Amino acid sequence: MKNHKTIILSNQEISPGYYRMRILAPEYSRLAKPGQFVMFRVQRSLPPLLRRPFGIFRAGFMASDCDGMAEKEFIEILYKVVGSGTEIMQELHQGDRVELLGPLGRGFDLGDPHEEKILVGGGIGLVPLYMLAEKLIETSQVRLLMGGRTRNDIITVTEFERLGVETYVSTEDGSLGEEGLVTQVLQRKLDKYPKASVYACGPMPMIDAVQRICAERGTSLQVSLEALMACGVGACLGCVVKGAGHSTENPRYLCTCKEGPVFYAEELDWNRLEQQNSAGGGCH
Ligand SMILES: Cc1cc2nc3c(=O)[nH]c(=O)nc-3n(C[C@H](O)[C@H](O)[C@H](O)COP(=O)(O)OP(=O)(O)OC[C@H]3O[C@@H](n4cnc5c(N)ncnc54)[C@H](O)[C@@H]3O)c2cc1C
Ligand code: FES
Repeated sequence: MKNHKTIILSNQEISPGYYRMRILAPEYSRLAKPGQFVMFRVQRSLPPLLRRPFGIFRAGFMASDCDGMAEKEFIEILYKVVGSGTEIMQELHQGDRVELLGPLGRGFDLGDPHEEKILVGGGIGLVPLYMLAEKLIETSQVRLLMGGRTRNDIITVTEFERLGVETYVSTEDGSLGEEGLVTQVLQRKLDKYPKASVYACGPMPMIDAVQRICAERGTSLQVSLEALMACGVGACLGCVVKGAGHSTENPRYLCTCKEGPVFYAEELDWNRLEQQNSAGGGCH
């Protein structure tokens, strides 16, 4: 994990309220694991822009534009504008200076290469699933179930298709794909592929429903949680969630930033999780 003072390569709106930012990020292709995140800060800005956590969507190389560098190594983050920090971010341009602390956290376990994999993404919760799909597709059959409220929440699905991932889209208002919740699609896919393991990131009610479906069937599930974070490195304890077996006599807390953000479902206390995250946890 390093703090990089670096620059933005591009920052574009890809759907109303959703942006893709490409940032110069040496060494990330080698270091970043699927499911890890960065703490992002605009240099020299005054509060409110403290560091904000964002999943790493993609890490790669691009040709340089005759500036003497052979290739530029970058990461992409995708973000939804929800508050003061992301409002400032949407105004940033190529060449603006930013700081990245990362890569941070525990990412996904790739699991048994022979098992089928189902990825479930809700809205911006799709972000950590792309690098995961890139890895899984090398050895496994991968299906992506992508859900959103409207068609505006469905982003980058064609990029997953280009990897060879089978994709299924659902929207609550029926404006794209099947009308309804992504969890209905998950039920059907698990009926058809009962041995598949599931990886999920999305709003907390979606994660909670996915957990119930998988628990009933004994399906292996990993979830990426999005607790509120201040430091991102295990120092402030602002991101703790209760772990499985937690009680007053035997308190068991897990730091989402350091011990997560990815957890196996059985590591967490699901009776308390929705309540713990009601202050804002879960992807938007
Ligand atoms: C590990 C991790 C990965 C994340 N990856 C992404 C990503 O790839 N793309 C993306 O758009 N967002 C992601 N988030 C959420 C992102 O960090 C917040 O949306 C962002 O910090 C909001 O900043 P803001 O200043 O614009 O909003 P604020 O003004 O701080 O808050 C606006 C609203 O968003 C809620 N909020 C703030 N932070 C979070 C959070 N961490 N989780 C849930 N709700 C929050 C607040 O409760 C409030 O209701 C991730 C969060 C974590 C912890
Ligand atoms: S954000 Fe500070 S301990 Fe996790």
